[in-house]
Amino acid sequence: MKILAFAASSSSKSINKQLVTYAAGLVPNADVEVIDLNDFEMPIYSSDREEAAGVPDLAQAFKDKIAAVDAVIISFAEHNGSYSAAYKNTFDWASRLEGKVYADKAMVLLATSPGAGGAQSVLAAAAGSMPHFGAEVKATVSVPSFYDAFDAEKGVMKDAALDAELKAAAATLA
Ligand SMILES: Cc1cc2nc3c(=O)[nH]c(=O)nc-3n(C[C@H](O)[C@H](O)[C@H](O)COP(=O)(O)O)c2cc1C
Repeated sequence: MKILAFAASSSSKSINKQLVTYAAGLVPNADVEVIDLNDFEMPIYSSDREEAAGVPDLAQAFKDKIAAVDAVIISFAEHNGSYSAAYKNTFDWASRLEGKVYADKAMVLLATSPGAGGAQSVLAAAAGSMPHFGAEVKATVSVPSFYDAFDAEKGVMKDAALDAELKAAAATLA
C-alpha cells in the first residue's frame, strides 16, 4: 500500500505537517511519502497566465504524485475559515489538467489548529467538495488545540481519544 501524505500549508513549522506525518505512520504496512507544497509552488492562478503560458509543469508533477499511490492523506490548515492560499493555488492549477484531481483515490482528510475549533470549517468544506474532484473520502478527523493534543518532541499524540480516532481513520485505508 503506497500512501501520499501532505499538509495543505506552506509553513515550514506546519502543525498540519506534523499531524499528517504521524497519521500516515499509523496505516499498517504502508510505504509513505510525505511531500511539501512548497516544492509545487506556482504563480497565482489566472486565466490570462494559463492562456499565455499553459499550465505549469509542477501541476502535472503534483498529479503524478497522486497517480503513483493507492491512497492520499491531507491535513488542512485553516486560513480565515477556508483553505490556505498555497493549497488552493496548487489545487486550482492541477484541476486545469483534469477535474478529477484526486483520481478516485481513497482519502483520509485531517485538520488541526492551535485553537479549540480544530480547523473544522476547512475540513467540512474539503469533505463536502472533494468527492466532486475524484476523492473517495473514507474518514475525516479534526484535532483541536494541537499543542495540547500532540507531543511535538516525541512526534506522538498525547490525547488518547483523538489518537484512537486517527488510528481508526488510518485503518480505513489498509
Ligand atoms: C491568515 C491566517 C488566517 C487564519 N485563520 C484561522 C481560522 O480561520 N481558523 C483557525 O482555527 N485558525 C486560523 N489561523 C491559525 C492557523 O490555524 C495556524 O496558523 C496554524 O498553525 C495553521 O496550520 P499550519 O501550521 O499547518 O500552517 C489563521 C492563520 C493565518 C496566518
